[in-house]
Amino acid sequence: MNLALHMIQDQLALEKLQKFLQTNKLPHQDVRLSAGEKIFLGFYDDAGELVASGGLELYGDAALLRSVAVQETQRGRSLGKRMVDELIQRAQQLPVRRIFLLTESAPDFFQRIGFMPVDRGSVPPALQASSEFADVCPASAVCMFYELKR
Ligand SMILES: CC(C)(COP(=O)(O)OP(=O)(O)OC[C@H]1O[C@@H](n2cnc3c(N)ncnc32)[C@H](O)[C@@H]1OP(=O)(O)O)[C@@H](O)C(=O)NCCC(=O)NCCS
Repeated sequence: MNLALHMIQDQLALEKLQKFLQTNKLPHQDVRLSAGEKIFLGFYDDAGELVASGGLELYGDAALLRSVAVQETQRGRSLGKRMVDELIQRAQQLPVRRIFLLTESAPDFFQRIGFMPVDRGSVPPALQASSEFADVCPASAVCMFYELKR
């Protein structure tokens, strides 16, 4: 399958992303676009359908990785890993030193990519105040981080 990677930048694409995240049982209502502060990407098929998604929210030298999802029928084909690798590469171009995430469903997936479990208490305060940390992700979610190589 031919897939094209695009940045999610307009209202229509955002609404499609929110619907996609809802289908994949991830937080979706608090997802917002904000140039310079948030980067959301999608892999799209030839018909323009969203097949995989992922995003970074930037908080100074820390970033929150969120909204990583792959359409159920396309899982197990490295699309999730490609999406995370792409977002790590984008973070590498920015003054970001560490990437954090919260996950209930896929800690092993992220660990394979290089993320390590970390105590929620060591997450920078600005990131702890983000909607995902503060409101939408349950306290039982595992917190993980990735240190960018500089
Ligand atoms: C988690 C998810 C994004 C993985 O996407 P995917 O495209 O199937 O994953 P990949 O094919 O890139 O897998 C990469 C590696 O992780 C492994 N892996 C994938 N999902 C895994 C999981 N849930 N638990 C453990 N390992 C997993 C794969 O076997 C593969 O290992 P390998 O490199 O040794 O072959 C996908 O299952 C998904 O959308 N889940 C629902 C949404 C979700 O939970 N998102 C994460 C929370 S933010």
